[in-house]
Amino acid sequence: MAKTKRRYVCQNCGSVSTRWQGQCPDCSEWNTLVEDAPATVFSMKHDLSSGGRAIAFEALDAPSEPLVRLPTGLAEFDRALGGGLVPGSAILMGGEPGIGKSTLLLQSAGAVAKRGLSVVYLSGEEAAGQVRMRAGRLGLADAPIKLASATSVRDLLTTLGTMDPPSLLIVDSIQTMHSDTIEGAPGTVSQVRGCAFELIRYAKENGVALVLVGHVTKDGSIAGPRVLEHMVDVVMSFEGERSHQYRILRALKNRFGAVDEIGVFAMAGAGLEEVGNPSLLFLSGREEPLAGSAVFPALEGTRPVLVEIQALIVRLQSGATPRRAVVGWDSGRLAMLLAVLESRCGLNFSSAEVYLNVAGGYRLSDPAADVAVAAALVSALADKPLPTHAVWFGEVSLAGEIRPVSHSGLRLREAAKLGFGIGHGPTEADANSSGLNYRGLSRLANLVDRVMATA
Ligand code: TYD
Ligand code: MG
Repeated sequence: MAKTKRRYVCQNCGSVSTRWQGQCPDCSEWNTLVEDAPATVFSMKHDLSSGGRAIAFEALDAPSEPLVRLPTGLAEFDRALGGGLVPGSAILMGGEPGIGKSTLLLQSAGAVAKRGLSVVYLSGEEAAGQVRMRAGRLGLADAPIKLASATSVRDLLTTLGTMDPPSLLIVDSIQTMHSDTIEGAPGTVSQVRGCAFELIRYAKENGVALVLVGHVTKDGSIAGPRVLEHMVDVVMSFEGERSHQYRILRALKNRFGAVDEIGVFAMAGAGLEEVGNPSLLFLSGREEPLAGSAVFPALEGTRPVLVEIQALIVRLQSGATPRRAVVGWDSGRLAMLLAVLESRCGLNFSSAEVYLNVAGGYRLSDPAADVAVAAALVSALADKPLPTHAVWFGEVSLAGEIRPVSHSGLRLREAAKLGFGIGHGPTEADANSSGLNYRGLSRLANLVDRVMATA
């Protein structure tokens, strides 16, 4: 005999409690627990070891169908996906409001539809007229997209059931969808999960590539329905500073490809433009040599991206605690690097404020940035500009050694391609094929000497 129990689901992280609490015990958010549809608990005496169907086991080397991909029409989108959409799979596209998710997906929908494939774009947020106006601005007014504005999953699935399944189905956004079989308002965990489940099932059964748009909360998680991340095949994040024009599309999870490739776009008057050579974008505006600026050949997946790192040091007269502010890099890593520069190289930052910025609003996670950051810091401290045609990279250990990093050859070749002439980095780098004048560094102290020696 089945019995039911009250349960409360956190609207932020999806964790389930059996009693209401003010604060979620898992994610510590306040006032996020909401009573959910009761779960059915079966008696433990129930015997499940008979009455089921036998499952056929398969060998790993059994022949399987090759993965066919559906190009999105945007090379940068395909690159971030690892080669295009996969029919019968589901993608969650997360991003802050206003970052350009709807624009990106409409552009892709237009490109796919213009190739003669069937595309359904369902907007739960905007009226069809609004989407049509946007399509007009994007030059897609004549793309044969099947456009609708609706929020009921039942209406959508009923309609889809009367037609041939489309190649691409876009639902913008999953938080606006609701299913009448589930209690609760649209956007609650149970609604979002239930609607996504139905849509994903439809996509898998009919070989449709499904894209679900998901809003992101201020802390960067896809709002509420973290549970969705487990249900979909690919989780994408569309990021950028709204005040800067560039946008980065990256995969956070991908069952069909690597998660380290990025797609770079710039938001322009007529929609998103693809940026095939991001280095030029992040380096624009550098002309005269300025103290505190160093160029770092970063690596995003297999693609090198040159970015400028800027440091500013302000000496304090009073005994006030000096500030350390970082934009685009890890503040713990900066504290470590400052400590290594102080203890291994005898520099003194203790009575100075330190500001570090990665130009263009770019976010660095590559550990090879240490050497470039150190070069920018030493250059700012000594007020000595670094040569504008030099790049710096390498990881710094606590002992003050410069450690080798991955893909040094790729980084240096990109720098050479963009007109840089000198490379400073780990002694073990593979610099032969780059055509750059390469100068190895074995210790952080060598870097300090080299910066001090610049004219
Ligand atoms: P949008 O795709 O609506 O964002 P999201 O779906 O992620 O909420 O994009 C919104 C912003 O993009 C909007 O503030 C205006 C800007 N934009 C342009 O600059 N150029 C354009 O051609 C379009 C369509 C939008
Ligand atoms: Mg939108």
